[in-house]
Amino acid sequence: MIFETHAHYDDEAFDEDREELLQSLPERGIGRVVNVGSSLESCRRTIALMERYPYLYGALGIHPSDSGALEEKDLVWLGRQCALEKCVAVGEIGLDYYWDEPEREIQKKWFVRQLALAREVSLPVIIHSREAAKDTIDILTAEKAREIGGVIHCYSYSRESARIFLDMGFYIGIGGVLTFKNARKLKEAAEYVPMDRIVLETDSPYLAPVPYRGKRNCSLYLPLVAAELAAVKGLTPEEVERITWENACKLYRMEA
Ligand code: NI
Repeated sequence: MIFETHAHYDDEAFDEDREELLQSLPERGIGRVVNVGSSLESCRRTIALMERYPYLYGALGIHPSDSGALEEKDLVWLGRQCALEKCVAVGEIGLDYYWDEPEREIQKKWFVRQLALAREVSLPVIIHSREAAKDTIDILTAEKAREIGGVIHCYSYSRESARIFLDMGFYIGIGGVLTFKNARKLKEAAEYVPMDRIVLETDSPYLAPVPYRGKRNCSLYLPLVAAELAAVKGLTPEEVERITWENACKLYRMEA
């Protein structure tokens, strides 16, 4: 069974067949899913999905690109929802400098605030970090994120940066990008990161692996990522599935 550590099934891309698709996952090899919130509205929808599917868990948090209109009262609400039994992480939170909006100071402010929230509610964090390696590392260091724990999702940085995140105790999330032709840098990082610190993810509906690149992604494509990672690591796909399942359970502090 595969543990899908990061998907967005609340996204409108799944409006047509969400129920059918989610129902079919366990019998098609996807044993657990963490649906990840990115805005207040998507957190609400994540909670509804958590309540409906026994094998689906939730992460609640505000993505940097959605942090522009956040208010303190929203964080109070978020903190209360984090007490829900099936909420396993605060996320996704972080920094996204690919986009100009909201401005960096605002992104940083809510990143720091949500790290503090995770500490308060004793949950790990799911970090979204795009073109912002240095500021992400600086903030995680200053906020003593080692004590919080979590995952760098959809890892896109160098192996040198990976070493820093690993030293902080973080897991590294790897998805469909690993199968892309131009994924040399990610393959180097994946080679470097010890197997007991890697988790599988899709970021569905985004970043579908080859041969579905550019199409809607879903957890059913994770065997393609597992196979690619197995090739990089010199393991069998079954070994990759088993080890990443155990890692995901440790990351989200769940029973195996
Ligand atoms: Ni995501």
